[in-house]
Amino acid sequence: MTLRPTTTRTIRELRDAWRRSVLPGLRGDVLDLGAGFGIAADDLSADVIWIALEPSRSALRQLAVRVEERPGSRLLHAAAEDIPLPDASVDAVIASTVLCSVRDQRRALAEVVRVLRPGGRLVYFEHVTGPPRSWTRTLQVAYRPISRVIDSGCDPARDTGAAIRGAGFRSVEQRDELAPGMLGSVDPLIEGTAIR
Ligand SMILES: C[S@@+](CC[C@H](N)C(=O)[O-])C[C@H]1O[C@@H](n2cnc3c(N)ncnc32)[C@H](O)[C@@H]1O
Repeated sequence: MTLRPTTTRTIRELRDAWRRSVLPGLRGDVLDLGAGFGIAADDLSADVIWIALEPSRSALRQLAVRVEERPGSRLLHAAAEDIPLPDASVDAVIASTVLCSVRDQRRALAEVVRVLRPGGRLVYFEHVTGPPRSWTRTLQVAYRPISRVIDSGCDPARDTGAAIRGAGFRSVEQRDELAPGMLGSVDPLIEGTAIR
């Protein structure tokens, strides 16, 4: 199966555009899942309580500096599979290229549903698997053992859209995009909003 890109923009350009268009609209207590170095904070409204969750020690120092810059915000040194927050305690969750990396995607999404308040939203931008028997999927599966080691545990061949739709949200709205990839492949991407 041959897949053609649906955009000329790269995955990074699409992610930056998504972040600039979606994150400023979030309000209240916002959990940033796998916050990395905390770049999401740049696009959040100043009155948002940013809760940056990150398990990797290597990112923590830089992330802590960013959290301190925003009064009221918090840093959680934890994994998405075991979020140290009470039930129904946040208004929104950000997942930006993190559900590819979590150890147990089903458990992480169950935790997201648990900590969201009714009516709260998961906003997400993720790279996902190509269709079965596509060149893209063949490359993703071949590259998986390497990316798992060198890229924060990333598995590029996950059907994250299906996992989100099966996680128990009240509604899911999603847009799919195929960005240009390497060696004649594409990078399949999803961006969307899931309402609890
Ligand atoms: C590609 S980075 C994305 C960082 C950030 N969300 C962004 O958009 O710049 C993936 C992040 O997921 C984190 N991560 C890996 N496993 C995780 C887990 N089980 N729970 C939460 N975050 C995890 C990694 O440490 C890393 O910071």
